[in-house]
Amino acid sequence: MQIKAAANCELGLIEIDEQHGQLFNLLEELDRAVINGDRWHVVHNVLVKISQWAAVHFAVEESLMRLFRHARLSAHVADHAEMQDRLKQLMIASLKQDVSKEASRYLREWKRRHIEVFDGTLLEQLRDIARRLDLQASGVAAATA
Ligand SMILES: [Fe+2]
Ligand SMILES: [Fe+2]
Repeated sequence: MQIKAAANCELGLIEIDEQHGQLFNLLEELDRAVINGDRWHVVHNVLVKISQWAAVHFAVEESLMRLFRHARLSAHVADHAEMQDRLKQLMIASLKQDVSKEASRYLREWKRRHIEVFDGTLLEQLRDIARRLDLQASGVAAATA
């Protein structure tokens, strides 16, 4: 029982870590486009992929925050929305001009700040919930033994 509960909770955190990993891979793809001086359509396509993957990841984080009544829900959601708005502007601009360096700079800075200011606090709460569920499972196991 204890092991199952702990494993379930750990899966939730691993899921978020893996989603972040996917986003970081896409940021590296954008950096490669900058280094290679790739044409506009390559940069545009990477920005579209980043936006699509971010939308999935943000929906997962926002669901967890609502489910567990996360204290910083509205500020965190607002920061997700601001990033998607900026990304949309960059996607539109990328059809007419080279925005690869600007996009790369913006996204690297956004990632660093967002994880430090918002995702870190959320993951702390999720780890705390995982620990408590583990304790509950131990209590149930002890009561039924
Ligand atoms: Fe995140
Ligand atoms: Fe986030």
